[in-house]
Amino acid sequence: VVRVEHVNLGVARQDEATLFYVLGLGCTRDPDFFVGPGNAWMNFGRHQFHLPTIGAQVLRGTIGISVPSLPRLVARLEAVGPRLAGTKFAFAADADGVDIRCPWGNRFRATQAPSDQAGDGRSIRYLRFDVPTGSASGIARFYRDLLAAEVRSDEAGHAEVVCAEGQQLVFQESSAGTDAYDGHHIAIYVADFDAVRQRLTDEGLVTSVEGAHQFRFVTIVEPGSAKVLYELEHEVRSCDHPAFTRTLANRPIDGSELGMVDVIAKGATFSLV
Ligand SMILES: [Fe+2]
Repeated sequence: VVRVEHVNLGVARQDEATLFYVLGLGCTRDPDFFVGPGNAWMNFGRHQFHLPTIGAQVLRGTIGISVPSLPRLVARLEAVGPRLAGTKFAFAADADGVDIRCPWGNRFRATQAPSDQAGDGRSIRYLRFDVPTGSASGIARFYRDLLAAEVRSDEAGHAEVVCAEGQQLVFQESSAGTDAYDGHHIAIYVADFDAVRQRLTDEGLVTSVEGAHQFRFVTIVEPGSAKVLYELEHEVRSCDHPAFTRTLANRPIDGSELGMVDVIAKGATFSLV
């Protein structure tokens, strides 16, 4: 696995999505695709959130992000808070980062970007999924055997897929139980695309083939058996997919945006959405 590019999460309302993702987190709405009310692509460094207006979907875990400045993130979240009253939006800062909930309950954990990180620090660092008790070792084998991924699974109940660009997909067993899967998806790039697609085809797991450079699967199974361990749609792309090298627009968030957030939070008579 080379890169986790986007997380696709249905939203109920684009105005609240804009307040949260653009004004709060510091995303930039992609100017080239889905610029109407039916969907929005939110650029975050070289990664994205895709937000179709299909009703709320919630990732069953935590989305780890990095930001250039935690204090400025907190200031933005404080500014949008009143406009998101009555939603599930919440945040709490501690010594190492900020725990955030989106208006529909998606959990984010924001930390300070390391100084050597490419770009200005905005990125999706990891996706952590709460998975059923007893599933982590099988999930580790699935990624290792079928996706030829580098997987760390030193601790019991924990499997960590390490992407070439430094991100992680973390599967952590949780006794809390797992909510029903609601159809959200993630997009990943893999290095040996044809071989990965062939192995997943042989297992009967490919749910759609979308041209020469993309396919999807949903079910993670114990390799060699039909035992379902976890469901999560993966949009799998080859590194020859034209989006791999696409430069994503990212507006500067150097503090100047706070002026506009303040104006809106104070009930200005115009809106950005
Ligand atoms: Fe997608």
